[in-house]
Amino acid sequence: MIPKEKINSILEGYDKKKIKIATICSHSSMQIFHGARQEGIKTVGICLEKNKKLYDAFPYGRPDEYIIVKDYKNLPVKELVDQNAVIVPHGSVVEYAGKALQEAAVPLFGNRMSLVWEGDRDMLFKWMKDAGLNVPRTFTPDKIDRPCIVKLPGAKGGRGYVVVNSPEEFRKKVKAEKVTIQEYVLGVRVYPHYFFSPISKGGYGVHEGSLELMSMDRRLESDIDDAQRATAAGIKFDPSFTVVGNLPLVIRESLLSKVMEMGQGVVESAFRLFKGIPGPFCIETICTKDMEFYAFEISGRIVAGTNLYPEGSQYTAYTYKEPMSTGRRIALEIKNAAKLNKLSSVIY
Ligand SMILES: Nc1ncnc2c1ncn2[C@@H]1O[C@H](COP(=O)(O)OP(=O)(O)O)[C@@H](O)[C@H]1O
Ligand SMILES: [Mg+2]
Repeated sequence: MIPKEKINSILEGYDKKKIKIATICSHSSMQIFHGARQEGIKTVGICLEKNKKLYDAFPYGRPDEYIIVKDYKNLPVKELVDQNAVIVPHGSVVEYAGKALQEAAVPLFGNRMSLVWEGDRDMLFKWMKDAGLNVPRTFTPDKIDRPCIVKLPGAKGGRGYVVVNSPEEFRKKVKAEKVTIQEYVLGVRVYPHYFFSPISKGGYGVHEGSLELMSMDRRLESDIDDAQRATAAGIKFDPSFTVVGNLPLVIRESLLSKVMEMGQGVVESAFRLFKGIPGPFCIETICTKDMEFYAFEISGRIVAGTNLYPEGSQYTAYTYKEPMSTGRRIALEIKNAAKLNKLSSVIY
C-alpha cells in the first residue's frame, strides 16, 4: 500500500484551483462527470478507444478530455498527476485496476483502505460486525439446515451464486472451493447510499463530521427478479443473481432512523479499523418482515445504484436546494476541501 504521506506530497504539488476529476469510463462515470460539470470542475475520462463513441453521444455525461488506454490494468498514473487529477474509484476501477490500485501513485477520492476492506470477504465481515450490523448466519457445508445462498470467491455482480437447502444439494450443485455459505434472508432488499463528510458540520453528526443519506436503490438481478413470469409460464429453474440494473426505492420514513444508525456504525467502525471513510459508500441489506435489516455487503465507494439520481433523489431534495447527485456531491466535497485546505482529509 502506497503510504498516505506519498499521496499527500503529490497533492501538495497540485494547483488547488485546477484540480480535475478523473475516472474510468464505466460504471457510474457519466454521473461523476455530469456532477463535476455542475460544480465547474474539469474531467478526464480514462477510456478504451472503442468506448469513446458511446460517451461522446452524451454531451453532459462525457468527460471534458480523454486519456485513451489499451486496457484498464495499468492506470495512466503519471499523465493523471501531470493533469492535477484526482481519481474517483467506482466499481469498475476496483475490478479492473485490482491490486494495482493500492500502489497507484495518484490521489484517489476517499480512503483507499476502504477498497481493501470491501474487497476481502473476511475483512468485510469483520467490518460489518464491528459496525454493529446484523449479518446473515454463515454455515459450513455439513451444517446446512435451511435455505442458503452460496457465494463464489471473487465473484462480482452475483454471477454463479446458487441456493441450496442441504449438505447433499450443496455437494451436487457446488464444485468450487472456498465458497461462502450464507443463510438466505427473506425480505426486501434495500441498498442505501450514504456520503460521509469529515469536513462538514451540522446535519446528522458522526465523528466530528456529517453523514448524508443520498439515495437508495434495489438491484434487478437476472433471472431471479422476473422469476414470477417464468414460474407463471410453468418453467422450473434454479435462480441466478446476476446484476443487470437498478430500480429506485424509498422506504417507510419510520425506518430511516435505523438506516442512519447503520451508516453511523459503518463510519465509526471505519475510523476504528482504518482511519475513516470519507465520501460515498453503500450498505447492501435485506429488511425482513420484522423490520430488521440484515447486511451482507458494504461498498466503500460510489455504487451504480446512485446512477438513478443524476438530478438528485427523494432524499437529497430535503438536504440541498440544488439537484445533488452523489457524483456532484463528490465534486462539491473536493471543492470545499480545497478551499479549507483539507484535501488530504478526503483524499488518499
Ligand atoms: N444472505 C442473502 N440472502 C438472500 N439474498 C442474498 C444474500 N446475500 C446475497 N443475496 C443476493 O445475491 C446478490 C449478490 O450478493 P452479494 O453478496 O452482493 O455479491 P456481489 O459481491 O456479487 O455483489 C444480492 O444482491 C442479493 O440479491
Ligand atoms: Mg453486492
